[in-house]
Amino acid sequence: MKVLVVGSGGREHAIAWKIAQSTEVSHLIAAPGSEAWSSKIPFECWDCDLTNVSGLEALALKAKKENVELVVVGPDDPLSLGIVDIFEYRGIPTFGPRKEAALLESSKAFAKEVMESARVPTASYVQFNEVSQAKQWLIEADWRKSWVLKADGLALGKGVRVCESLEEAMESIDSLFEIHGKILIEEKLYGEEISLLGVCDGNTVCFFPPARDYKPVFNEQKGPNTGGMGVFAPITELNNESFFNQMKKEVFLPVLSEMKKRGVPYRGVLYAGLMRDPKTGDYGVLEFNARFGDPETQVLLSLMTDDLIPYLKAAINETLDSYPLQIPTQSGYAVIVMGASPGYPGDSKKGLTVSWDPSVALLGSLDAECFASGISKKEEQWVTSGGRVLGGVGVDESLSEAKIKAESHLKAYGFEEMHYRTDIAKESL
Ligand code: AMP
Ligand code: GLY
Repeated sequence: MKVLVVGSGGREHAIAWKIAQSTEVSHLIAAPGSEAWSSKIPFECWDCDLTNVSGLEALALKAKKENVELVVVGPDDPLSLGIVDIFEYRGIPTFGPRKEAALLESSKAFAKEVMESARVPTASYVQFNEVSQAKQWLIEADWRKSWVLKADGLALGKGVRVCESLEEAMESIDSLFEIHGKILIEEKLYGEEISLLGVCDGNTVCFFPPARDYKPVFNEQKGPNTGGMGVFAPITELNNESFFNQMKKEVFLPVLSEMKKRGVPYRGVLYAGLMRDPKTGDYGVLEFNARFGDPETQVLLSLMTDDLIPYLKAAINETLDSYPLQIPTQSGYAVIVMGASPGYPGDSKKGLTVSWDPSVALLGSLDAECFASGISKKEEQWVTSGGRVLGGVGVDESLSEAKIKAESHLKAYGFEEMHYRTDIAKESL
């Protein structure tokens, strides 16, 4: 089978790496992919423009002409532009939600409305289209609680501010309005964050192990939020049938059935960001992402023992009910530690020399030591070209050993001035 992976980051590197292990795949294409990847099977990178509909249509035409048989979409932007609708219109089987279903991520207000209708536990909220009304609301708010301000749209994980005081909220509000002209203010929830990803076919779900993502840029959860500085999985105490059954019954099936009722069946990875009190088990959904997480995917696919391709096909064909509730994984843990360029999550330094070696995550091999997120080639040198540059992965029976391996891989293939968190997978945070 000829498979096309859309995207170029670490998440797509991991998807391509895993897919290339499938006995069903004979040829792999990435659009645009990255020069930093290399493959055991025939592999090519296609130039493309994922930022607008005509670019996506051009890509679909090329995929049709080249007889691509399956497409897997990584990033949120093309999903929210309707890439799945565009490819399906040309008869190309495509894994990911259609535009209307991807609204679960691209509009926080839509996600809240769906959660309310589906009776999914989530934080109480108000929404505003006017800055002045939002400011007035904040002035009158009960500041014995903390409030979370969210821009209503995609913002690379940077459209959310958790505010402990009115002053903090007032400082953030204008810039958040600038992102999409609409904001949500919601009550702060407390507990431990969980990234729970499931493959969905519109009717049912198969879960990846629960993972912990470390969003703030610095150790001890300090500094601004990023796309994620590291992840470990599984969260041992939740990696059991009882938790998966609870989440299936209380979150995933109600949302899938609500989406179906609205005429927009959800097919693809649904990623629930949960906040859960470990003492009481009470939880709320913070957000939905309509895609694989980054860097959760690098870790989850490193643990997964089954072939990924049949799951993707079953999601498209609505036949996931014959697949296990828990996607089979090897025992032990996987950890990723992300290396970022100075300045991230703000403007980050580009062009720094990286000790990258493409063979450390050869597509189709069984072990990957690193995945490339923002590495490109300039005059025969590997250099930084993104904020998050690469992620070192470690897999081991012991969580602490997996973390040590992840860090040592990162350091071996990293770069001078690289910043990374040293407290990933420290469960006490
Ligand atoms: P979101 O993009 O909605 O997931 O928000 C990004 C991050 O902000 C989350 O991963 C949490 O760390 C934090 N966050 C968002 N909403 C809340 C909330 N209601 N209570 C506490 N923290 C939140
Ligand atoms: N790691 C968080 C995300 O993918 O949104």
